Amino acid sequence: MDARVRTENWAGSDAATVRTLVEREMRAYLDELGWDVSGPWAVVDPARRTGQLPGLLARDPVGRPLGWTAYLALEGHLQVMAIAAADAETTAVLVDGILAAPQVRDCRSVIVCVRDAAAPRLPDTLTSRGFRVEAYRYLVKPLTDADRQQVPAAIVQPWNGRRHAMALLCERAYRDAPGVRAFAPDGTLAQWRAYVDSLIDGNGCGEFLPHLSRVVAGGVAGRRLLAGAMLSDLGTGTVHLSQLAVDPSIRRKGLARATVTDALAEASRTFVRASLLVSSSNGAAARLYESMGFRDHASFVVAQRYRV
Ligand SMILES: CC(C)(COP(=O)(O)OP(=O)(O)OC[C@H]1O[C@@H](n2cnc3c(N)ncnc32)[C@H](O)[C@@H]1OP(=O)(O)O)[C@@H](O)C(=O)NCCC(=O)NCCS
Repeated sequence: MDARVRTENWAGSDAATVRTLVEREMRAYLDELGWDVSGPWAVVDPARRTGQLPGLLARDPVGRPLGWTAYLALEGHLQVMAIAAADAETTAVLVDGILAAPQVRDCRSVIVCVRDAAAPRLPDTLTSRGFRVEAYRYLVKPLTDADRQQVPAAIVQPWNGRRHAMALLCERAYRDAPGVRAFAPDGTLAQWRAYVDSLIDGNGCGEFLPHLSRVVAGGVAGRRLLAGAMLSDLGTGTVHLSQLAVDPSIRRKGLARATVTDALAEASRTFVRASLLVSSSNGAAARLYESMGFRDHASFVVAQRYRV
């Protein structure tokens, strides 16, 4: 019997169909998350056509589009940037298509980090195929006069271009953290440095805002960071806390709260809301954000499967 859902290499798919599907997902980012991805995703179609961004398009037996996915091999891990599907069967066919992709052979693992609502039954589908799956909560908080009126803590300083120190801090801060590290899968300093560089130089998580990002410095001549908060502009009046880390030697002393409070006090002059992503297994960070007024707004699926 013919399969109801077939996939094709999207490099050869017609441009109008791909554009419609990708624009639908871009619109969902905007409407659901207040996140304008039109800048970073402008490269999707040119990269698709040239084969630089591999992906699959799913169709029903008469050729109607049902969904798509795109993925990229980065430093030995296949990073899946989107899975969008009309129904659970399409979700399953796309996930199986990713696992059968030739790029997987050269990768140590497949990492998924996508908007949950885009693909029905995605967490179950990934779990049943051997992925370790984590829900990431997308939290949002309106910025108000109360944020603006917070008095800055003297220890909190401007960012001042501390990218390498921030990578070192992340490497220390996440060393013992459980869960999937989508952007530094092996937790090496090189991966953390590449990740911090991508937050600053790339726009995948919005445009980096050095004037709103904050650090707490310590050590000899203040070269070691004790805390860091990186903020970016999602383009719709939303400021995004793209990273927050505190040195393990100085936890529970209020550094995270002081750093984020200071950053949001400044951000509230130009932005109307703040957002962030936090793993549902990260209770410490969630308690901090909830106590600051962040609330659930949407969710992402983050998952990893090592090659077996
Ligand atoms: C999450 C993290 C940033 C908190 O930093 P911190 O400086 O220890 O946090 P603070 O001292 O400012 O604590 C603020 C609030 O967070 C909550 N909290 C922080 N650590 C907690 C823990 N281990 N257990 C329970 N609640 C915790 C508490 O509500 C706390 O308020 P309280 O001390 O008045 O009860 C830090 O643990 C860290 O760097 N973790 C690894 C990286 C990470 O998870 N980053 C966040 C990614 S979204």
